[in-house]
Order: sequence, then structure tokens, then C-alpha cells
Amino acid sequence: MQTTLKLSNGAEIPVLGLGVWQVPDGPITEAAVTAALETGYRLIDTAQAYGNEASVGRAIRNSGVPREEIFLTTKFHPGRRDPLAEIEKSLELLDTEYVDLYLVHWPQGGATVAWPGMEAAHAAGLAKGIGVSNFSTAELTEVSESSQVAPMANQFQYSPFVDRRSLVEACVAAGVVPQGYSPLGTGEHLDDPAVAKLATATGRTPAQVLIRWSLQRGVSVIPKSSTPSRIKENFVALDFELDDDSMAALDALDATSHTAEAKASSQKWWS
Ligand SMILES: NC(=O)c1ccc[n+]([C@@H]2O[C@H](COP(=O)([O-])OP(=O)(O)OC[C@H]3O[C@@H](n4cnc5c(N)ncnc54)[C@H](OP(=O)(O)O)[C@@H]3O)[C@@H](O)[C@H]2O)c1
Repeated sequence: MQTTLKLSNGAEIPVLGLGVWQVPDGPITEAAVTAALETGYRLIDTAQAYGNEASVGRAIRNSGVPREEIFLTTKFHPGRRDPLAEIEKSLELLDTEYVDLYLVHWPQGGATVAWPGMEAAHAAGLAKGIGVSNFSTAELTEVSESSQVAPMANQFQYSPFVDRRSLVEACVAAGVVPQGYSPLGTGEHLDDPAVAKLATATGRTPAQVLIRWSLQRGVSVIPKSSTPSRIKENFVALDFELDDDSMAALDALDATSHTAEAKASSQKWWS
């Protein structure tokens, strides 16, 4: 299968990466990123809000993998004022001269408020790509229409249970790469009986089945694990295919009516 998607700046973003939300700064994050890079992952997803950029940076530096072979994402904390000033701090922590993708973590204060600062980070060469996260279709359109450089990616919660298909379609139509987070429902979908049944039937694990579903939907995906054996297990999702019946069984789990929203209004922690 295709292992990268093309951003509008021409860069290739891997379809499968490691997310490090809730992985403590220090040896645990370093070990997770090290295991991922050894396994073959080339996309690491962190954020200013995660507090572990320094460990991500150390693991990358010590890995021996050339920096230009790694796609590194961090996210602007919208509770802070200036995306340009904040990326300078991130780069110091990450010990690198640029990130490959810098996302507005959520649309606090409105869709467009952070964007001029994101464009400034891009113009300064500190962020090769810029994008958004937790933006609905309407918010994505609003920021695209008011920008010099349109968002290149939108990262939002996505899994068979939260199949924001209308949002994926809107991203693709606008030339914005869709990226899914919480593909395992932060762990909660792994014990679902329908997922377990499909895993048994296909000879895969529940995590592999869930990750593979997102990949076959054309969405880049960033499962998190701080367990090296699971990091390896999840990477196998690149190497098998779910047939149409299996995809349909997973499609049937959607509880969002294929929403174009990035979040239910009750889940918008920023408003
Ligand atoms: N932009 C945003 O607002 C936003 C929000 C949420 C998440 N994200 C990004 O998306 C990433 C992933 O989402 P997520 O952290 O919510 O969770 P997730 O990837 O859906 O699930 C992670 C959980 O599943 C467990 N797990 C992972 N692989 C497993 C396996 N093979 N077998 C059994 N358990 C497994 C992990 O446990 P262990 O770690 O103990 O192995 C952890 O408890 C985040 O880390 C972050 O980078 C972004």
C-alpha cells in the first residue's frame, strides 16, 4: 500500500506514525520514540501541550536516523499568544532547526486567530508545513479562505466508531491531508466485541484491525503506545489488507452519522 500522502507543499507525510500524548517526558518517551524509529516509523507526533518535546528530540538525535528522513509534527498550544515565538521554544526543546508540520492544536478563540502566526512560522522556515487540528469542515473553509498559505493537514479524532467521513471528504476535496488521532479510542475500542471478533477472524490483533481500517480509508494515522512490543505490533498494519466484508463490519460501528464536525459540541474542551 501507499506509505505516504502528499502535502500541498510537496512533502510526503507517512500514513502511519507514533503519537506521544500522555507519554511522560523522560526515559519512557525516549524509549517509545527509539522503539518506533528502530521499527521503521518515520512520523512522530508531539505537541507543546504534551510536555515531552525534549525527550522526543533526544530520541531522534540519538537514533542515528538522519533528521531529513523523519517527519516531525508538533502543535501550537492555542492558550498561548504567538505561534512564531512558541515554535522557537519547541525547536529548542526538540533540538532541531525545523518541524515538518506545525498544527494549531484546536480552534480556541475562532478558526483564524492563530493563523497569521502559523504563516509567519512557515515563512521563517521553522515549519515546513502548517495545518490545523480539531477543525470542522466549516472552520477549515474559514481559515483557508482568509489565508495566504492554506492549511496542509487537519488532524482529528477518527476511528470506525467515530467515522467523520464527511470531514475526511471535505479535507480531500480541499487538498488538505486528513490525519486521524485516537485510532484505538485511547485504548477503549480494543475490547469491543465486534473488533475482537474481526481480529480473531482475520488472525490480526484488535489494534492492527483498527489501524488498518483508517489506512484503507486513506487517512494518515498516529496510534500511541509507550510499550515497545505494541509499537512493533501496530506497525504491521501496513502489511496486510482487510477485505470488503471486514471493512463493512467496521463501518457499521460509526456512532457519528459520518459527521463533518471535528468534535461533538459537548467535547470541545476549549470553548
Ligand atoms: N490533536 C489532538 O487534539 C489529539 C488528541 C488526542 C490524540 N492525539 C494524537 O493521537 C495519538 C493517539 O491517540 P491516543 O493517544 O488518544 O490513543 P490511541 O492511539 O487511540 O490508543 C492508545 C492506547 O492504546 C494502547 N495501545 C496501543 N497499542 C496497543 C496494542 N497494540 N495493544 C493493546 N493496547 C495498545 C496504549 O497503551 P500503552 O501506551 O500502555 O501501550 C494506550 O493506552 C496521541 O498520542 C496524539 O499524538 C491528538
